[in-house]
Formats: sequence, C-alpha cells, structure tokens
Amino acid sequence: MTSVAELIRGAVASENAASEDVLERSAPDSIVLERVAPDSAKAPHRRPIVLRATGLSSCDSGLSSDPWAIDRAPGYGPGASVADEIPGDAPRQAPLPARYTEASEEELDRWILEAKATLGDRVRILGHFYQRDEIVKYADFVGDSFMLAQAAKGHPEAEAFVFCGVHFMAETADILSTPEQAVILPNLAAGCSMADMATIEQVEDCWRELTAVLGPQPAIPVTYMNSSAAIKAFCGRNGGIVCTSSNARTVLEWAFERGERVVFFPDQHLGRNTAKAMGIGEERMPLWRPHLPLGGNDERALRDAKVILWNGFCSVHKRFTVEQIDRARAEFPGVRVIVHPECPAAVVEAADGNGSTEYIRRQIEEASPGDVLAVGTEINLVNRLQQQHPELTIFCLDPVVCPCSTMYRIHPAYLAWTLESLVAGETPNRIRVSGDVATESRVALERMLAAKP
Ligand code: 13P
Ligand code: SF4
Repeated sequence: MTSVAELIRGAVASENAASEDVLERSAPDSIVLERVAPDSAKAPHRRPIVLRATGLSSCDSGLSSDPWAIDRAPGYGPGASVADEIPGDAPRQAPLPARYTEASEEELDRWILEAKATLGDRVRILGHFYQRDEIVKYADFVGDSFMLAQAAKGHPEAEAFVFCGVHFMAETADILSTPEQAVILPNLAAGCSMADMATIEQVEDCWRELTAVLGPQPAIPVTYMNSSAAIKAFCGRNGGIVCTSSNARTVLEWAFERGERVVFFPDQHLGRNTAKAMGIGEERMPLWRPHLPLGGNDERALRDAKVILWNGFCSVHKRFTVEQIDRARAEFPGVRVIVHPECPAAVVEAADGNGSTEYIRRQIEEASPGDVLAVGTEINLVNRLQQQHPELTIFCLDPVVCPCSTMYRIHPAYLAWTLESLVAGETPNRIRVSGDVATESRVALERMLAAKP
C-alpha cells in the first residue's frame, strides 16, 4: 500500500513534472490539489478539486468533471454512504441560466466582485470553513457553525446574508436574524446528509416511545446544529437545547443540570465522543435506530441510559480510521493528529486532540515552524490551512480526497447568479423559517448562545 509520505513525495514529483498546469501551489513539499485540467478543451477555465497527476486519488471521478453533474446526480454525491438517501421533500435547485454555467472563471470573478461592490454593506456573505477557496475569497465572515450563527445574529444592519454553507446553517441564520433580513442559500441542493438522517416525524415517534417507557420528560433533548429547524423547535418546546461541535460539552453539562438523561440528535459520534470525555461509559449510551421498536433497545437499557444516541453520522468524517493515524505516526514520528469530533470514537481516542473546525484552525495557528500535523476533517479546510502555513507540514489523514459534496455545491456560478439577482432587485433562494418552528427553535438556539462553560 502506498504510504502517506510516498503520496506526498509522489505529488511533489509529478507536480514538478507537470508544472505548466499548476494554477496554485504552496510550499514545494506540500500536496497540491487544485490545478487546471491539463487539456480540457470543453472547460479549460474550470478548476477540479483533484488531479490525477498528484498521485492522490479522489473518492469519485465525478468531482473533477463538470460542476453541475453533482447537482444532477440522484444521491448526495461523492463520499456519501450508500445508505444516505436524499429525502423526497428536499429542496431542488432549478438549473442556472446558461450565462452562468457557460461563464469562464474570470467572468464569474468579475461579476461577483462587481455585484458585491454595488451591494456594499447591504449584503454580507457568510462562508463555512469547508467551502472551496473560490468561494471563501469572497466571504465577509468565514467560520465554524457556531461563529456563523453568531455572525447572522450580530449584523442587524445587513439587509441580506448570502450563506455559503448548507441548508441547516441558512435556516439557523434566518432564525437568529431579524424578520426583515433575508437569508439566501445560493444552491438549494446544498443540504447535509447527516441532518437528513433524523426527520421530525421520527424524532416525535422516538419521544412518544421514550415517554411510554420512562414517563413524562423522559430526557433533555439536545440536537446538533446539523439538524432541521423542526428538530431544533422540538428541542425548544421540550426543555432542550442546540449544540455545535465547539460547545457540545458545555451544552451537555447544561442538560445534565436539568435532567438525568439526554437524547442526542442526529450525530451519534459527536454525542458519544462528548459524553465519553465527560466520563460516561459507552454501556450507558444506547443507540436509537429510528426504524426499530424502542430504537432497537430493551426497556432496561433505556432506563439505565445517560445519553441516548441517534443513529446518524457524517459520511465525510466516517471515512477517518485508526489505521490512518497509525500510518501517519509510523511515517512522521512526532506528528500531531487532530480530528473533528464527528469522527468515530476510536479515531478521536487515537488522536492528540479533537474539536470544531475553528479549534482545528487555531491548533494550526499555534503550531511551531517545522511541526507536522495530520488532520481528520474536510479536505477544503485542510488544503487551505496547508497553503496558508508553508512553514508547517499539514496533510489530511485520508489519502483519498473526498470533500463534503453538499458544501461543494456552492460553486462560484451560483454565487454570481445570487448576487446579480440581488442587484436586479430579486431575492432568489430565500430560506425562511416561520411560525412556531421559528419561535421554538429560537428558544433552543438562544439557550445554546447563553450557555457558558
Ligand atoms: P463545525 O464547523 O461546527 O465544526 O462543523 C463542521 C461540520 O460538519 C459542519 O457541517
Ligand atoms: Fe453534513 Fe458532514 Fe457535510 Fe458537515 S461535513 S455538512 S456534517 S455531510
């Protein structure tokens, strides 16, 4: 099997041999993943995320083909597990006008900058760390889920937020911003496969079954930010709260001050990793499988439970393994391994540190020149950190390049279309959360924002 070090050396060698097609490069000893497709007559201006010449492989060759292919594909796209199904009622993105799909990178860049200049402070672009560089460069605020929620709440002067992230983040921004402010998701197909693993109907069924076994208020419901507004509202009206990966422990402590048991939606890994770090044994964390009676548990397991974990996961972070960590340690003695807590528990335990995307960014900011860091999170963030820090050796634990395919759906063409529509006085792809769902989900979000470690 090819080692990580060989892959890095192979990437450098092939990069040197094919330097004419390199669009962006960082330090000579780093992995370069973004290049111009060498002789694509069809779209010479488009930048695929992965190039065969690096010696690295991609989880799906579709990533380097035409960017609209992912939107048209029936599933979530590259990297998604075969079990991940897009719900039938998930929003569908209408095809973009040809002006945008046929535009060159340079044209899109010019249109975005011109529209942004015309709109000025009236419109703020928010970008998640997992967005591709071609989007991040236009963002007024870049951050993790928690920071972006704060940004939406903290800018009442903006008339609109263009949210370069995924659907649940745009919903959260709408809930936390004022009713006069519009939140726009440039591509409606940018959902989240993990968030879609828990529907409000399944959550209500779970609650009814838990109540039948455990009595009223069977647990404090906690939902990860990566969930629908309807599930956040469920938590709000049932004495519960929202968390992100940056405050999950604080939130669980908040919950245990109010009840002896928690039910955690939808990411089993964040729930398990956080509870384990608090000293809760895995035997007290039954997994709730929504299609089985009592979630596949017996009554006793539920009575003894401290944290009932929903059976959801992130397809991107599920790819990281202990074997990858072992290889990194064998090949780079002294390497520091940092991973996102959406990774499985064994991976988090084998790593040197774990935390949100902002935690990962800060760890790298604080590293010393010459340090080697292996990172277990989404590739666009890892690549960006690597390019920003040529004094460090940073690589992704997984040698197979696999971005979050739903984040990746925010292509510059969608951003150009969105901004030009705003200039023309239209408000496309507005994400609205209204009525009781807005009121009750705001309660759960405000509890999170107020919870302090
Ligand atoms: P954070 O940015 O909160 O760490 O979350 C990562 C993620 O998976 C977002 O979907
Ligand atoms: Fe969802 Fe995972 Fe993508 Fe985050 S990285 S948006 S959890 S699929």
